[in-house]
Amino acid sequence: MGFICAGNWKLNKGPKEANEFFEDFQAKAQGLLLSDFAIYPSAFSLYTVSQELREKGFNWGAQNIYWESSGAFTGENSVEILKEMGATQCLVGHSERRALFGETNEQTAQKMLALANQGITPVLCVGETLQERKSGQTNAVITSQLREALKGWNANNSFWLAYEPVWAIGTGEVATPQQAEEAHQVLRAELEKLLAEKSKKTPILYGGSVKPENAFELAKMPNVDGFLIGGASLKVDFFRQIYQQGTKAKQSS
Ligand code: PGA
Repeated sequence: MGFICAGNWKLNKGPKEANEFFEDFQAKAQGLLLSDFAIYPSAFSLYTVSQELREKGFNWGAQNIYWESSGAFTGENSVEILKEMGATQCLVGHSERRALFGETNEQTAQKMLALANQGITPVLCVGETLQERKSGQTNAVITSQLREALKGWNANNSFWLAYEPVWAIGTGEVATPQQAEEAHQVLRAELEKLLAEKSKKTPILYGGSVKPENAFELAKMPNVDGFLIGGASLKVDFFRQIYQQGTKAKQSS
């Protein structure tokens, strides 16, 4: 696996725009290792994306999921349905889900387990608010979010971890490379504590206002294995440029 570029489209791009994105992406994809990429479209665009990406090695999946497999849960989607569509991954615990939709640490743990049971790779997001950073709680917050989400976790299952400081998401205010590296080191150490040897296979992505202009410096940090990109993943050219900068940074360090 090379440098990972994952795109969180949030509530953007219906099926038509999703389709246009992948046509453009594939036209420009020569020389790119598709397994380094991931996309999380809105639930209503997943079917279109499944037609574009099935069996291409590109990772893709939903932005949220429910842990029950079926039943009277109006408005929810299950891991089983996601799997049937051919998805390989799913975001869990994004700060917007935590802040706007009240997602708790207990729920992130349930989602992680439901996904792993079906062989779908969870992409767990953790991150501190500005207030938590200012009051020196960053490390305590992110390690506790990680620990709580891994309750009952079997170390043989795979997941990706994304460090996304809430104050850097969608604000244009990116973490400095040193801030990102410090948080990633803390998370790496916590992973080792929780999962021992098996922790090595979990990549740690940075997310929060990643752009082609700041990608190189962030990617030079030894513990930054990739990015989770919101706004800049909506444009094929930005997405590709970020990947190229990330790959170049890793090759040069
Ligand atoms: P952003 O979002 O790149 O637009 O800041 C990142 C995310 O929320 O995953």
